[in-house]
Amino acid sequence: MTAVDEYGVVGHPVAHSLSPVLHALFAAERGVALLYRQHDVPPADFAAAVRAFAAQGGRGLNVTLPHKGAALELADAARARARAAGAANWLRFEDGGIVADNTDGAGLVRDLHDALQLDLAGARILVLGAGGAASGVLGALLACRPARLCIANRTAARAQALARRFAQAEPGGLDAFAGASFDLVVGATAAGVAGAQAALPGRLRLAGAVCYDMMYGRETPFQRWARACGASRVHDGLGMLIEQAAESFALWHGARPDTAAVRARLRPRSG
Ligand code: ATR
Repeated sequence: MTAVDEYGVVGHPVAHSLSPVLHALFAAERGVALLYRQHDVPPADFAAAVRAFAAQGGRGLNVTLPHKGAALELADAARARARAAGAANWLRFEDGGIVADNTDGAGLVRDLHDALQLDLAGARILVLGAGGAASGVLGALLACRPARLCIANRTAARAQALARRFAQAEPGGLDAFAGASFDLVVGATAAGVAGAQAALPGRLRLAGAVCYDMMYGRETPFQRWARACGASRVHDGLGMLIEQAAESFALWHGARPDTAAVRARLRPRSG
C-alpha cells in the first residue's frame, strides 16, 4: 500500500458512485492527502475484501448497497445510530478492529436543514418505504422532534415492523394517511429502480410540502407523483449524498468540508 492513507467505497455495483469525486474535492479543500478508490465486491466476498483492505493498511471504507447490513455485522464496535439503523455506511480500521457508523441520517437532516432551510422540529413527516433506506434515516428524523412521523409502505407489515424499532413512528399501508397534511415527504422506496411498476399513495395535498427523494441522477416515479400532488418543492438526494460524504470525511479526518462549494460545483444551476 502507498505512503498516503487509503480510503474507499465498497459496493456492488459501484461504478456509478460519486464518493471518489466527493472525497477528492473535500481532501483538496481541507488540505488532506489521501487515496480514495472504489471497490466492486459481490456479497459473498464482502467480509474477506474488507479484511484484506484493512490488513494492507487501508484506513477506512464507505459502504453502499447491498453491503450496509453486512458492514454492521462485520464491525467489532458500532456507534448507536448505526445499530439503530441496522446498517453501516462508514468503517474505520484501528488497532486491528473495525468500528462502524452510519452517516446517512445525519446527511439527510443536514441537507434538509442547511440547504433547504427546513426546520424539522414540530414538522409533520411522511416517509414512503420501509426498507434499508428508510431505516437508515428514521432515527435522525425522529431526533429532530417532529410533530409526527408516518411510515407508508406498499407492504404495510414492513412499516409496522419498522415502527416496532422506532417507537414514535406511525406505520401504515400506502394509503393509510390519505387526507392528512405533511410538511415533508421523504421518498425512501426502490420504486422505479428495477423498472417495475411503482406503487405510490393516491393523491395527497402537498402544495406547501417539501418532497425529498433519497435518490438522485434521474427523475423517479416519486418525483413525478409529488409534482402531481401539487408539491412545488421537489428535491432529489444529491445533497444528502454530499452531506453523508462530508460527515464521513469529518469522522475520519476531524475536519468538516465546505459542502456548499461542492454542491454548487456538482449542480451549478440549482443555486
Ligand atoms: P432499500 O435497502 O433500498 O430500502 P429494500 O430493503 O429492498 O431496499 O426496500 C425497498 C423499499 O422499496 C421497500 O419499502 C419496498 O416496498 P415493499 O416493502 O412493499 O417491498 C419499496 N419498493 C420496491 N419496489 C417498489 C415498487 N415497485 N413500488 C413501491 N414500493 C416499492
